[in-house]
Amino acid sequence: MITVVGSLNMDLVVQTEQIPRVGETVLARDLRYVEGGKGANQAVAAARLGGNVSMIGAVGSDDMGDRLLTVLERDGVDISGIKRSTEPNGIALIIVDANGNNSITVVSGANFDLDAEYIHLHEDKIAGASIVLAQLECPLEFVAEAMLVAKNHGCTTVLNPAPAQKLSAELLANVDILTPNETELELLSGHSTATPEEIEAAGRKLMESGIKSLIVTLGSKGCFYMDADSAEYYPSYKVKMTDSTAAGDCFNGALVTALDRGDYMHDAIHYAMKAAAISVTREGAQPSLPTVKDMENFDVWYQERQEK
Ligand code: RIB
Repeated sequence: MITVVGSLNMDLVVQTEQIPRVGETVLARDLRYVEGGKGANQAVAAARLGGNVSMIGAVGSDDMGDRLLTVLERDGVDISGIKRSTEPNGIALIIVDANGNNSITVVSGANFDLDAEYIHLHEDKIAGASIVLAQLECPLEFVAEAMLVAKNHGCTTVLNPAPAQKLSAELLANVDILTPNETELELLSGHSTATPEEIEAAGRKLMESGIKSLIVTLGSKGCFYMDADSAEYYPSYKVKMTDSTAAGDCFNGALVTALDRGDYMHDAIHYAMKAAAISVTREGAQPSLPTVKDMENFDVWYQERQEK
């Protein structure tokens, strides 16, 4: 079983030609409400790919909270660990440009109505899991407790350190697999990550804190895996990007699903890269996440979609 500890947001999405610069006004044609939140996206990604998933987090007691829970349930995620907070639901303001790049501002709301104690209220969901996956859109004490409790129960712990922030050595010592992007790795390690050599050096530095393995996601360039004995670069599947929102979440959800079913890390990374490639060709966060069927058809799909 996989337990995802993290955020749930309603994404308010606008599509513009360009992301506005400071002081600039741009026009968009419509505003869409899309189910999102890094935690919920990762939970849905894992569940759609066949994972047995439960989630610990919080939504508001409003219509947005209702809608987010309905979608999670429909995808088979156990929502009994999700609190109905008196705080308003988390909201993400997302602008997507014509090339599929985005900028995101999160208003945390209910996602911050969580603490270390809440983890113990739902400790059974961690005790029964083989993998616990978290991100950083909820209070750090909540995330740190989840990682600690998961380690105490012998789970594999995966932390996607997004959005980027400095983390204590104590927290990192409870992480088995860390999945930063280049910017997050730079902030966490304090080292530049401008070249492949610098990424490896920054990763080695960070691994001194006790992390067993590191997967640095490099957007359209692929990803870089390293553990104590090895380092390997995985190029991405080349597709035309429509919307990169939740591509990293898709990667993380697919990765833990593959690891949970017993895949070797090498195969799990390939699987996660395929899932992320599908997601960037579709709009929105949760609507973009692939199913088992999408993955079974991947080779045919990719033949048609591959960018030369
Ligand atoms: O990673 C994408 C997600 O980040 C969006 O769905 C948004 O809610 C923010 O949490």
